[in-house]
Amino acid sequence: MNLINRVWQSSLGKKYIMALTGCALFAFVIGHLLGNLQVFGQPELINTYAHFLKSKPVMVWGARLGLLACVGLHIAAAVTLAALNKEARPVGYAGGSAYGSTTRSRYMLVSGLVILAFVVYHLAHFTALLPGINGHGDFRKLTTILHGESVPDVYAMMILGFQVWWVTLFYLIAQGMLFMHLGHGLAAMFQSLGFRNHVWEPRVQSFAKVASIAIFIGYTIIPVGIFMRVVGYDYAEKAKHQLTQTSPSPVALVAEVNGKEKR
Ligand code: HEM
Repeated sequence: MNLINRVWQSSLGKKYIMALTGCALFAFVIGHLLGNLQVFGQPELINTYAHFLKSKPVMVWGARLGLLACVGLHIAAAVTLAALNKEARPVGYAGGSAYGSTTRSRYMLVSGLVILAFVVYHLAHFTALLPGINGHGDFRKLTTILHGESVPDVYAMMILGFQVWWVTLFYLIAQGMLFMHLGHGLAAMFQSLGFRNHVWEPRVQSFAKVASIAIFIGYTIIPVGIFMRVVGYDYAEKAKHQLTQTSPSPVALVAEVNGKEKR
């Protein structure tokens, strides 16, 4: 307890905490992207994946609590470090962009807060399935049959979700913020972890640039592809029909879509 307290009290300790929690969140962002890219395959692909995750409650809740702790510590360390920076250097650097400057901290705080707002909306949209925030209706009605079992139709939720212009726009703005946040945050993370000599500095900068661009492209092609009706157009029409029904009929939906694919 004493050790944790001492780490938290020092600004170097806070930088380590921010770097390590940032590293864990970065790993989640990569894993989540790989999972989401399955939307470009057959509907069963992403639905089987989502169902697999849901069928392991201990793993899912462990990951959720771990993520929540990382987000909390990351924000607390960022806010207290920014306040310490401001106290130590109220005027800021002349160039305004050196790592650790108040301008840079403000920039990271603003993009971080937009990402946080996005995650809150995103959880309500696709995890809590709150009706009234997706521009369509009650996504809980979207179910499908997998191996004889009725399961949530995550594919249909994504396809319908990104056919709404303001949802897609908000996701794109959030991905832009994530891109900016990672572009600076990844480089800062490696610096905090000690990779800051003249050999590592250019490598770290290049990695941060390439990784943030790849993540931006990966996360934006999903809403853009769906919004442009390149992905899942036929399926969306069937899913909309399911939304208007009072009692869902996943069997009919799947049979109809499968029948069309075979033709
Ligand atoms: C195009 C972009 C994205 C898409 C299509 C997407 C899709 C999804 C879907 C469908 C779920 C629900 C999974 C389920 O309950 O079966 C989900 C959950 C989640 N997403 Fe995303 N996501 C995107 C971007 C992001 C980003 C950028 C972040 C974080 C910065 C993020 C964080 C989360 C979190 C924390 C969950 C909750 C996981 C859980 O159930 O515990 N997502 N996402």
